[in-house]
Amino acid sequence: MVSLVLHVNGADRPVEADPQTSLLGVLRGALALSGPRFGCGEGECGACRVLVDGACITACDTPLWAVEGKEVTTLEGLGDEACPHPLQSAFLTEQAMQCGYCASGIIMSAAALLTSNPDPTEDEVRHALARNLCRCGAHNRMVRAILAAAREMRA
Ligand code: FES
Ligand code: FES
Repeated sequence: MVSLVLHVNGADRPVEADPQTSLLGVLRGALALSGPRFGCGEGECGACRVLVDGACITACDTPLWAVEGKEVTTLEGLGDEACPHPLQSAFLTEQAMQCGYCASGIIMSAAALLTSNPDPTEDEVRHALARNLCRCGAHNRMVRAILAAAREMRA
């Protein structure tokens, strides 16, 4: 057990945990953030994706020690009901989610894409989502929502 301070969604969050604990476990457990989801636990499904210093990573296979001193952003850090991120608004407008289980990770992958490429093609969006599994088959609506959010952010 060690004490360390994580930077999550713009705030310093003191945590006491084994440094080998997964980042996902701490986000969902001690920090009570439900945005990142637990799917496979093996870095395969993308449900747990978060941004670390702007890069999209899987939190389930990232140990706590690896993110100390870095800026972690979860779905909650992108926006909220009062002030949603354009991606969050577009997912609602396009009714892009079916069960919503995968959507948090997909929105985080999309957020990282739109930061590096504000005007992606449909193929580039699909490529960015290649490591996010959606068992409901809602990918087409999600791709539409991401392209709509990109247009909105460029306007
Ligand atoms: S829960 Fe992390 S990739 Fe599946
Ligand atoms: S919307 Fe259900 S898993 Fe993707």
